[in-house]
Amino acid sequence: MNGSNPFAPTFGSAPPVMAGRGDILDTIHEALITGTTHPDYTTIFFGVRGAGKTVMLNAAEDVAREQGWLTISEDASRSGMIARIERAAIRHIHALTGPQKRRVRSVQAFSLGADFGDAPPPDAAESLREALSDLGDLLANEATGLMITVDELLSADRHEIREFGSVMQHVCRREQRPIAFAGAALPPFEEYIETEDRSAFLHRCSRHDIGQLNRADTRLALSAPIEEQGRAIDDQALDAASLATSGYAFMVQLVGFYTWAAAPAGSSLITREHVESGLAEANRRVSRHVLAPTWRDLSPIDRRFLRAMAADDGESRLAEIAQRLDVDVSYAGVYRQRLIRAGMVVPTARGRVDLAHHAARAWIRDMPLDPRELPPKMSD
Ligand SMILES: Nc1ncnc2c1ncn2[C@@H]1O[C@H](COP(=O)(O)OP(=O)(O)OP(=O)(O)O)[C@@H](O)[C@H]1O
Ligand SMILES: [Mg+2]
Repeated sequence: MNGSNPFAPTFGSAPPVMAGRGDILDTIHEALITGTTHPDYTTIFFGVRGAGKTVMLNAAEDVAREQGWLTISEDASRSGMIARIERAAIRHIHALTGPQKRRVRSVQAFSLGADFGDAPPPDAAESLREALSDLGDLLANEATGLMITVDELLSADRHEIREFGSVMQHVCRREQRPIAFAGAALPPFEEYIETEDRSAFLHRCSRHDIGQLNRADTRLALSAPIEEQGRAIDDQALDAASLATSGYAFMVQLVGFYTWAAAPAGSSLITREHVESGLAEANRRVSRHVLAPTWRDLSPIDRRFLRAMAADDGESRLAEIAQRLDVDVSYAGVYRQRLIRAGMVVPTARGRVDLAHHAARAWIRDMPLDPRELPPKMSD
């Protein structure tokens, strides 16, 4: 009897096998054991949409909980994150001390509601700092700690991010309380840290790229869940399926899911034929949910660059792309970089680039040309 479809092609859902991220998770584990001096005690995951950042935050929290740590999990795309983190910290304090033993100021302020007498209500960052200091002290006494994860940093309110950073800098770095941090962001957040946010906290977080899975990890991410559910996949089928994913985590789940679904209920072997028919649906979905929205946000010049690449059947030489576009190589290099950040291009060998998604080549070739994409002299 075959089990049910094990794949999880939904953003934020844990994959059946978390492939290729063991090293990063080991480092985080080591950091929690070592303490605040470990460079990865505070860390940020960078990656394009669907690369697997949210599931990495969840996995980092699992690592923390397995150590007996508490966690606070926050999504910064909704405003009010400072207040929410504070409330979560206070809930943890209550759980640790019991409501009778409320000895900490921030807890009293919270439980008394808005009654601050004539005094102005405490500043949100100030009360977060108090709550985290109190919680951190309690946990330090018990030789354990707290991990805070913050997803979607790029969409956060900039003011809140700055406030959060300065609280963390104080409470965890300067005063060395056991409060670890893992954040997740789309690649442009790195530029934001470099150019706009000079605060020490984000700057000193270690950075991990949540990139494409290599071929071996991709094969494992596809084959292990199939085998665990009582089916097998033949070698040729596995090759075709893993090639089609380009190691992109979301696509691994899509290809796995629709390939599994394409094999008739009674069949215990997944073959090349099932992969071919599963791929059609996986390609449609990745096009609609990833390629099309990304393409819409690209400038006409970015699109011209991608069209020039899609003319090749495999990797492209940057110098050749520059020639096709009639621009110099350094100019082409700027667009290459932008497209890497957008998740459409990956660097391969020196001076070469490839499309990040296997499905993108055919999809781009089929895209009707927008007149704005024509070189300036031709569109006049
Ligand atoms: N290491 C992995 N191995 C296999 N599948 C993975 C892995 N990491 C993530 N996935 C799968 O990839 C998909 C996307 O993961 P996730 O939602 O974490 O991406 P994300 O980077 O947070 O995307 P977004 O930027 O849109 O929020 C999910 O279906 C998830 O199950
Ligand atoms: Mg996410």
